[in-house]
Amino acid sequence: MIDLRSDTVTKPTQDMLRAMTSADVGDDVFAEDPTINRFEKKMADMFGMEAGLFVPSGTMSNQLSLNVLTSPGDEVIIDKLGHIFNYESTAAAHLSSIQLRPLDGQRGKLTPELIKPAIRTTNEWDPHTRVIAVENTTNKGGGACYTEIELKKIRQLADQHNLSVHLDGARIWNAMTATGTSPEFYGSVADTISICFSKGLGAPVGSMMLSSHERKKEARRLRKMWGGGMRQIGLLAAAADYAVEHHWPLMAKDHDRARHFADVLKESPHFSIDLESAETNIIIFDTLEESAATWVTRFSDHGIGVVPFGEQTIRATFHFQVTDEEFDQLIRTVKNF
Ligand SMILES: Cc1ncc(COP(=O)(O)O)c(C=O)c1O
Repeated sequence: MIDLRSDTVTKPTQDMLRAMTSADVGDDVFAEDPTINRFEKKMADMFGMEAGLFVPSGTMSNQLSLNVLTSPGDEVIIDKLGHIFNYESTAAAHLSSIQLRPLDGQRGKLTPELIKPAIRTTNEWDPHTRVIAVENTTNKGGGACYTEIELKKIRQLADQHNLSVHLDGARIWNAMTATGTSPEFYGSVADTISICFSKGLGAPVGSMMLSSHERKKEARRLRKMWGGGMRQIGLLAAAADYAVEHHWPLMAKDHDRARHFADVLKESPHFSIDLESAETNIIIFDTLEESAATWVTRFSDHGIGVVPFGEQTIRATFHFQVTDEEFDQLIRTVKNF
């Protein structure tokens, strides 16, 4: 199958497996795994943050971040398409006793104009607005990227109101590839960042919370409490490090292919797409007559995996394990529909 259902479907390559099996390991609950320790520092340095904490998933690094930035009863401003709001099983309410305040942004992106009126006043019955959570690139928003100016303005607003900024950077690698923004820039506008190695980078497992030393200390305690203390995970750090070094440079090709695919959809009588939305590796498009479900089945009958994203909306996600032959086959198939 030409699997465009997600960029999480990638499998470890032989070279990645070799890097994993040659990793020097120890018990990370005792903070004794040299490969993890090196990799956490490498990622923290890359983003200009004090510390990194390796965790099993992006959900865990988002939720740890929110927990260390808030107290029970606080409120977090987020876009209505945010992963934290839609796909994390009410974890923020469950684990941190906080409330999410979804706003109606564009393609998953917030603006200061939207955020400002949503910041609560000082009435005693108001929740305390404490965090602005942004996602870059946006998943449900179709891979949209923030510009540096947009993020700087959000940071400025946060500073004016004494709020923290959490950046869900599950696909920050795509954002950096598309915009050329440096990792240090993101470190300069966010208090906590969640980065993932298991999406378009192709590692089998792993995300990291980037933060201050103090917040990492608290997050390590919580990670253990939530059942995420792990042992010889240098194996996973080796895979993630391999992915950053060897797969990140391949990402521009995923974006070029996504754009090419969007161009072909635009010419098709069956689909509609806003070409401006083809910014990174995620393409969201609409079906014109038949339902998304019908088209997902038709794609599947032609050996192509895509996912329904609404009654007449479909998502296709590009990653480096789509071969040139598969991509040519995809383009031929869509042209022939
Ligand atoms: C934007 C975003 N944040 C967080 C996550 C959660 O990552 P995980 O599935 O590793 O928990 C995802 C997963 O796809 C995501 O797209």
